[in-house]
Amino acid sequence: MQTLDSQTFKTRDATSYDAVTEQFDFFTEHLTSPLAARMISLAEIKQTDSVLDVGTGTGIVALQAVNKIGETGKIHGIDFSEGMLTAARAKAEKRALGQKVEFSQMDAEELKFEAEKFDVVVSLFALLHFPNPLMALKEIYRVMRKGGRVVIAVGSSPPLLSVTGLTHRLKIFPNVLRRSRGKQLVAPKFLDSLVERHFPEAHESEESHLARHSHNRTQGVAALVQSAGFKVLQTDWQGHQAQLETPEEFWEIQRTFSSISRKRLSNAAPEKVESLRQEFFRQCRTVLSRGGNLVYPFAAFYVVARKPG
Ligand SMILES: C[S@@+](CC[C@H](N)C(=O)[O-])C[C@H]1O[C@@H](n2cnc3c(N)ncnc32)[C@H](O)[C@@H]1O
Repeated sequence: MQTLDSQTFKTRDATSYDAVTEQFDFFTEHLTSPLAARMISLAEIKQTDSVLDVGTGTGIVALQAVNKIGETGKIHGIDFSEGMLTAARAKAEKRALGQKVEFSQMDAEELKFEAEKFDVVVSLFALLHFPNPLMALKEIYRVMRKGGRVVIAVGSSPPLLSVTGLTHRLKIFPNVLRRSRGKQLVAPKFLDSLVERHFPEAHESEESHLARHSHNRTQGVAALVQSAGFKVLQTDWQGHQAQLETPEEFWEIQRTFSSISRKRLSNAAPEKVESLRQEFFRQCRTVLSRGGNLVYPFAAFYVVARKPG
């Protein structure tokens, strides 16, 4: 497999969203809102704060955070993908929030802001997309005022050795039984495994090093935040499971949210994608005919930290 230089990786990652921005926004608005709300609550945003949302996507966190700021507060969302930003700007305009929120195209690893500009920085589900996450965290550190608060969240299971981890494992145990009886398909593993089988040759790395090499990312991410100079104050975890009504929705959610499926399917020959789709729908119908279900578990692990000083 080819390892891309980091600039090419960033460009390909960002542009891979352009074709699925609408679907991304649809699923994000329906599913991610409670995770964004938790992030905003952990960020303790004050009325006068200047807030930066890194890897804002279609603006789910930025546009919710607006409710926390007053006349003098300001939210700035940045993202590398123009497609995502166009959707975020359209929503801000529709909600008449243009005065309070601004969206700019920018690389998280090279922020075009002066030092100590922001009181609060938030970033939901973006860190694992950066080829050099430590560089992005150091940039976040640089643009934050001393004493400022940062909340970084990545998709992850809860910490293994924690009450939350134990409770979570007990809660999902019935799912393990359903799966072993062929009565549940789980996103994005299901589509990813079909993609791996139909298109075994990845032309290039589709995920960052951090995403590929840390399945339970809780310790690694907290350690990275600390390495950037922050003092870690607390961690938190929130998880949900969506049940998809139709195989069509189940297909869309996976080819939108999974970096592997999104990138590999968009590079594949249409007739080969069609044959994979047929198999996907056949298996979904079999599981549904047994009274089974199609699920998408999603969760965020939050690291809350402060810039000392
Ligand atoms: C999974 S999405 C999360 C978006 C949003 N925070 C949310 O939770 O809906 C990851 C986002 O990171 C953006 N991204 C990837 N690499 C980036 C980079 N180097 N700089 C800024 N944004 C980047 C992608 O374009 C994408 O919008």
